[in-house]
Amino acid sequence: MTPLTKSTLTILGLETSCDETAASVVRRDADGRVEVLSSIVGTQFEQHAPFGGVVPEIAARAHVEAIDAVAAEAMRAAGLDFGALDGVAATAGPGLVGGVMVGLAFGKAVALARDLPLVAVNHLEGHAVSARLGASIDYPFLLLLVSGGHCQLLEVAGVGACTRLGTTIDDAAGEAFDKIAKSLGLPYPGGPALEKLAATGDPSRFDLPRALLGRKDCDFSFSGLKTAAARLAEKITDARERADLAAAVQFAIARQLSERTDRAMKLYAAGHPGQALRFVVAGGVAANGAVRAALQKNCADNGFSFDAPPLAYCTDNAAMIALAGAERLAVGISDDLDAVARPRWPLDEAAALSNPSNSFGRKGAKA
Ligand code: KG4
Ligand code: ZN
Repeated sequence: MTPLTKSTLTILGLETSCDETAASVVRRDADGRVEVLSSIVGTQFEQHAPFGGVVPEIAARAHVEAIDAVAAEAMRAAGLDFGALDGVAATAGPGLVGGVMVGLAFGKAVALARDLPLVAVNHLEGHAVSARLGASIDYPFLLLLVSGGHCQLLEVAGVGACTRLGTTIDDAAGEAFDKIAKSLGLPYPGGPALEKLAATGDPSRFDLPRALLGRKDCDFSFSGLKTAAARLAEKITDARERADLAAAVQFAIARQLSERTDRAMKLYAAGHPGQALRFVVAGGVAANGAVRAALQKNCADNGFSFDAPPLAYCTDNAAMIALAGAERLAVGISDDLDAVARPRWPLDEAAALSNPSNSFGRKGAKA
């Protein structure tokens, strides 16, 4: 397909890969200026809270029930009719496949009914462009994608052009936040609750393990920290200790993210002599203040600019999916209506296949 000749694209984005049913209308002009006309995020927290985590079957049903109303609300809030759209972008993976199928099928129906191009978007590419919803950031940049399901350092050279520098060999950072929060008796989702509790604690009271110290690569590991924190949480008796452990956990996670990012920045800088050095952090954990502060220090130390999405676009949303779709359409990339939902879909497929860490499950590379 050739690039859409219209200079300004108005795109409906749909996101249903985990526990948020989201729809958004985004407008992007030929110079890359972006306007979010609406962004509706329907959460399923209440349905999943009794189980302490996301239950895939409950999520899929909840997406089916919510998608019509959420998409209609996104169009109403944007003040537009479906006829005003230039394309539809729907998350096609990676994620809980029952949910992904719901949003993708809805997107296909709109594309078919309105004769619009469809873009089957990789959810991770959505996170990768999410900071561009709030600021104009040129390619290439170094990206730390840090969410509930993913923890990766990537070089992003352009639309769909990612090279992985490092990934987690076990848990994602958000997963560590969530699981440790659960062992501290905090409500789901744990990351924001743990950050709140940590604000009143002393991070130096507990000494937590420092994984992969001295390794020359940019990989992450959080499972040792998770186990150590869970053991300590069992023995805790008072509120003071609980807050101190939360603070120590947050400090340890931020420290590891910062240590690995420092290594990646040095590699990236060596590969881009004389060029502008840009760093972007995205994904749910990018909402964490301590993590942001640690990464800002990395940027200052290594001569990188720092960008993170506005808080509303750190966690899952459909504006980032709409923007990823708009960027693809603008360079002539769209998908057929037989695009499939993919539970696993690494951004850098070559790296995931050649060095899958432990992310290579029965169904292929996860991340
Ligand atoms: O990007 P996201 O919404 O979903 C995935 O694609 O995974 O990220 C959700 C993750 C959860 O693990 C959540 O606990 C974490 O991001 N998170 C936070 C904060 N806000 C969300 N972790 C630490 N501090 C926060 N303020
Ligand atoms: Zn996400």
